[in-house]
Amino acid sequence: MAKTRTQFVCQQCGSTSPKWMGRCPDCGEWNTLVETIVESKARSPLSYAVQRSKPQRLSEVTSDGLERVQLPMPEFSRVLGGGIVPGSLVLVGGDPGIGKSTLLLQVSALMTEVLGKVLYVSGEESVQQIKMRAQRLAINTDQLYLLTEINLNIIVEHIQELVPKMVVIDSIQTVYLDELKSTAGSISQVRECASRLRQVAKGEGISIFLVGHVTKAGAIAGPKVLEHIVDTVLYLEGDRFHAYRLLRSVKNRFGATSDVGVFEMGSQGLIEVTNPSEAFLAERLPNAAGSTIAVTLEGTRPLLVEIQALASTTSFGLPRRTANGVDFNRLLLLAAVLSKRVGLRLSDQDIFVNVVGGLKINEPAADLAVATAIASSFKNTPVAADLAIVGEIGLSGELRAVGQLSKRLNEAAKLGFKRCLVPKSFRRQEIASDGIEVVGVRTLREALQVALISK
Ligand code: TYD
Ligand code: MG
Repeated sequence: MAKTRTQFVCQQCGSTSPKWMGRCPDCGEWNTLVETIVESKARSPLSYAVQRSKPQRLSEVTSDGLERVQLPMPEFSRVLGGGIVPGSLVLVGGDPGIGKSTLLLQVSALMTEVLGKVLYVSGEESVQQIKMRAQRLAINTDQLYLLTEINLNIIVEHIQELVPKMVVIDSIQTVYLDELKSTAGSISQVRECASRLRQVAKGEGISIFLVGHVTKAGAIAGPKVLEHIVDTVLYLEGDRFHAYRLLRSVKNRFGATSDVGVFEMGSQGLIEVTNPSEAFLAERLPNAAGSTIAVTLEGTRPLLVEIQALASTTSFGLPRRTANGVDFNRLLLLAAVLSKRVGLRLSDQDIFVNVVGGLKINEPAADLAVATAIASSFKNTPVAADLAIVGEIGLSGELRAVGQLSKRLNEAAKLGFKRCLVPKSFRRQEIASDGIEVVGVRTLREALQVALISK
């Protein structure tokens, strides 16, 4: 009988060690090593020769079977890079309750129209619960099969028997392989289950979608263990208190660049938002002090968002800064530049910055819009309603060029903005925009002179 051997696996980074240690030598996390049984793979060197793999000329390789299947949900398709690739393994990650199950149930139902049989496996909800949700989503199809099961071997048997074109596993953290002794959701289970499903996907040409919960540390099932196994990694993000959800592709073996799809959670599930900028600006109060429009880029897609700032005299000794949707340290930096380079007395002001719609902006191209919003609120002077703002701010108060300017300008023009404030250092050839006046400025001070309506 084969002797069972155990090793210690770091639940954080997946590195292994023959003995227990208090601290993982690879990632430096404390108390993350957990004993795991190693499958003894007794394989003689000869057996490799049996499974013949053979180098092939690139020109001889056919791309048959890799044709994408168009999905009647353009926002989802675009994030996948233009459709679902047969035999691909896609991970959909996100916080609990963000709408992963809802999205995949909707996608499954739509796929039955195009592909035929779809199997939705849930380890979290009963068939009745899924049925109730499906009723709410007005899903009515004969080709959607539901299964509540967490034993992966049984699931694979069902897949081989039913031969669906697409499978959803909700979630990868609840399924387990009974060969492994560790509990479901542990690093080794998640990794082995995903590899097993990858074999099934590639072998049978089935597209498999895995749902993965983002754990406390902000990564899926003990960080990064899945990302290299799957072909595509999508994250569904958004603010729980807002209806907007962003589906972002983080890795895509079948697509060009990172892309985003925008959805809105309603009583009928997730609805595509085809013109997100319009939606984000819908409740804007023109000519209110402290409000500016930034043109940011989400993946490759330009988005117009409203940035609001409020500067009010602090009632306690220490002024507060609160950032919602922008980086806190970035806000501190911008406040410092505003005080030092423009001469605004912000040291006795509480400053609040908010990005409307629950969006999170990471790129520095929104700097100028944030700084202008703060100055506008501080001076109680509104910003021209037809002005969009783009630009990164340097520590000397200078403006720095941002990428993909023409794309941003076109989006602003499309939404009826008449002027756009941009850093002057732009390279001439980059600008190609109709119907919008480009106002180039060099410094933050100059920018504020243009942006704030003089009384
Ligand atoms: P769910 O898909 O269960 O989240 P996840 O699988 O990511 O954990 O979505 C849960 C939330 O979505 C829940 O709080 C209710 C909300 N919801 C709606 O607002 N409208 C709907 O039509 C549905 C189905 C859910
Ligand atoms: Mg769920």
